[in-house]
Amino acid sequence: MLPLIEFTINRRSVRVEVEDDASLLEVLRDELGLMGAKNGCGKGHCGACTVLIDGEARRSCVVRAARVNRSEVLTIEGLAENGHLHPVQRAFIEAGAVQCGFCTPGMVMSTVALLTRCPDPTPAEIKEALRHNLCRCTGYASIVRAVRLAGAWMRGEAGGDGATEGAVAPSVLNRAVGKAVPRVGATARVTGRPIFAADLSFPEMVHGKLVLSEHPHAEVLSVDASAALASPGVLAVLTAADVPGRNAFGLLVPHQPVLAGDRVRHLGDPVAVVFAETPRQAEAAAAKVRVTYRPLPAVFTPEAALANGAPRLHDEGNVMHRVEVRKGDVTEGFKLADVIVEDVYTTPMVEHAYLEPEAAVAVPEPGGGVTVWTGSQGSHAFREMIAASLALPEEKVRVIFTTTGGAFGGKEEPTVQIHCALGAVRLGRPVKMVLTREESIRMSTKRHAERIHLRHGATQAGRLVAVEARVIADTGAYASLGKPVVFRSAVVAAGPYDVPNISVVSIGVYTNNPVAGAFRGFGSTQVAFAAEVQMDKVARRLGLDPIEFRRRNALVEGRETITGQILGPGTAYLETLEAVAARVGELRAAARAAARPGKRLGVGIASAYKNVGIGAGKRDAAGAIIGLGEAGRLLVRVGSTDIGQGSDTVMAQLAAEVTGFPLELVDVLSGDTALCPDGEETTASRQTYITGNAVVQAARGFKEKLAAVVAEAYGVRPDDIHIEGDAVVFGPNGGGPGAGGRVVPLAEVSRKARAAGLTLETESFYVAPTTHALRETADKAPGEDPRLWDVHFAYSYGTQAALVAVDEETGEVEVLKVVAAHDTGRVINPQGVRGQLEGGIVMGIGYALSEGLVLDDGRIVNDNLLKLRVPGVGATPEMESVFIEKPEPGGPFGAKGMGELAMNPTAPAIVNAIRDAVGVYVNDLPADRERIAAAIRRAAGRG
Ligand code: FES
Ligand code: FES
Repeated sequence: MLPLIEFTINRRSVRVEVEDDASLLEVLRDELGLMGAKNGCGKGHCGACTVLIDGEARRSCVVRAARVNRSEVLTIEGLAENGHLHPVQRAFIEAGAVQCGFCTPGMVMSTVALLTRCPDPTPAEIKEALRHNLCRCTGYASIVRAVRLAGAWMRGEAGGDGATEGAVAPSVLNRAVGKAVPRVGATARVTGRPIFAADLSFPEMVHGKLVLSEHPHAEVLSVDASAALASPGVLAVLTAADVPGRNAFGLLVPHQPVLAGDRVRHLGDPVAVVFAETPRQAEAAAAKVRVTYRPLPAVFTPEAALANGAPRLHDEGNVMHRVEVRKGDVTEGFKLADVIVEDVYTTPMVEHAYLEPEAAVAVPEPGGGVTVWTGSQGSHAFREMIAASLALPEEKVRVIFTTTGGAFGGKEEPTVQIHCALGAVRLGRPVKMVLTREESIRMSTKRHAERIHLRHGATQAGRLVAVEARVIADTGAYASLGKPVVFRSAVVAAGPYDVPNISVVSIGVYTNNPVAGAFRGFGSTQVAFAAEVQMDKVARRLGLDPIEFRRRNALVEGRETITGQILGPGTAYLETLEAVAARVGELRAAARAAARPGKRLGVGIASAYKNVGIGAGKRDAAGAIIGLGEAGRLLVRVGSTDIGQGSDTVMAQLAAEVTGFPLELVDVLSGDTALCPDGEETTASRQTYITGNAVVQAARGFKEKLAAVVAEAYGVRPDDIHIEGDAVVFGPNGGGPGAGGRVVPLAEVSRKARAAGLTLETESFYVAPTTHALRETADKAPGEDPRLWDVHFAYSYGTQAALVAVDEETGEVEVLKVVAAHDTGRVINPQGVRGQLEGGIVMGIGYALSEGLVLDDGRIVNDNLLKLRVPGVGATPEMESVFIEKPEPGGPFGAKGMGELAMNPTAPAIVNAIRDAVGVYVNDLPADRERIAAAIRRAAGRG
């Protein structure tokens, strides 16, 4: 008999039998069905599970349930009372502190505890109170603003501190584009509704657990599941032989095994999957699956993989992809150079560390089909991969997008989804699979580690004349999205500069390390670091101000990229540079003011650019369907998945803007393959532009159709019809907002149209402007059409300046302020853009100073959120965001994507600032304190 505990949960008394070692989080979620507290790590590292126990914020995953006997527990579900949100919940929405929302319940509960005991906390007290709560999306600045705003409200003060700057309540909007509006779905996130895949449950649900490889490279000789099958609750153990269709997945190169049958190539390869009645039974049985391996020689660096006699990881050899960019004649170019700077830079593999570990729930459907609920970056692509492996026609697989707790590129491909669907079909019962944090880190894709050799030549007049780059990327065991990553590292290798002579070679190499794939920046982030530190070095050698050196070489409209593309009128690099240049004086003054003994202050700048959209001649398209629902609300259906970046909100704003519907009457349904058109992947900063255009097109069509239907039904002219609030306004003398014409509720219009058999719905499909594959050389023969060199239809640009304080002895770096000016095209939602910038900057700080996988023969040593050194709230500097709103021709209302680029200038700006402070460059990321201290000692001749 299990111990019985009794406690108060959200003001209600409960009695529960608990396992001795059960955590409070397990009891809340599994026994009481309270899914508000999230499991981001189960180890006390992330704070997503925070609840209040007797008024104190506690991480429920590390509190034994037995310990809360006779305590009062408050979870996020108990916070709102009588249907009214708690001020902290409202403040999080208002301040834009909610992106993916996975960290939000924990953040909110920690904030409630803080403001209850300390109604007017200082910034230091806020940081202290939130030190156990990680957020990978927001960069924490909006969260801190939310805490201050909530504090002001709870103290009875009206305004707060400007946290709502630019924000307006949706009900007073008349133009939706350009307004800072709260994100769609924010209320569900701040109230802890069960919106993530791991929150879902179905009757008779089975639980799956993977058995992962024990070797980085080995032959699989046999799998003995007999002991596992004999374990309590176990229903099935499936291996490679049980995959009925293609035993491989991959968005571009489907060669990664669903269940490895004969060979494993890294420690994240699954070999078997166990299904049992409970998660604990599945876990216990998985440990009993005996796999016999024959270890094979392995390679853990690209150099080793390229060496003669290296074990061959794939039939095509160990070179996954090779890209060359050529323009002019670099040999001749270097002859013109007065200064040549050559150096080698290295960047590590990096874990995405989204707060939500991968999860899926699959339910078998009559007729052999399956429905899968999961978070991802593209439901339609997941449907294709699940169908292929299950040997099902695609129409028998439905993928329903669930709120995704961050992705950043790491959820473009499946982890558990195919296994989950396989189990559901085999067992005829619903199946849930959720990765632990450690499994997620072991299985999921990473940012490519790169070794970047750069050689820059410039004249004394400050003009670049030649750049040579050699990039070698570690793509790990499988291709994943490595090919476009390697491509991206090549095409932006020299930064946003006009370089007449260029030679770039970028190679992706297979190793037995974890699989590298897409990660915010997609290969551009690594080379941006190297190229921008290199630019700083060249400027110093020339005795030029780094800003002036960049200005003299800037890519502007009419100039050519290194791939030969002539840039169009949406090019705003120089504007971002000048915006930052205008603030550098202030930063330097701040540096002087902040001077302290033992600390050296420095300011550094860096720029970057990156494509918007897929490009390179690849298809890039999306659909949208817009219709009027029975209740008179507008429903926008899109395939684009909102992984926290706010695309649903952008789509709602665009639809509202075009149709005239108030934003609060617009709903967005995204990523349900049965109901939504394909929007392709949420990747390459493409959704605002591509799906945004599809929504604008569909909204225009809908508006016309609505006017025609209403005109016919009510006998008025289409031009006399306007939407005002939740009604259509028209009249014999012309309608219009406030014109006092006849008012018909939209719900009535909808009913009348339905009764007449009319569908008030339009569908649109948008295809991006033509792009072309990279050409052998950027040099054009006379008369050739220059558009053939358009590798991408748009680019975004950014410049950042960082102010840092460096401890000369320890090498410790504190980033005090970052000014970020980014080219966004027309901003649809300032709150969303600011959130992307702040989140990108803090991710960039992690990349610069602390993050990076530590690998030991393919094994990830830093395999949890604590060891990964993901930045916490304490790392957040003061951040100033400047939006450069140069309209992008072709973008919806002139908008373009900008989410990825936000992090690219941060790391080089910080490294350049460190050089400014202490006189040393660090060429290897992360520039952690050991590396900086060692560089300082070397420079001083002490090491
Ligand atoms: S789930 Fe409890 S701290 Fe991460
Ligand atoms: S909003 Fe904080 S982790 Fe996504």
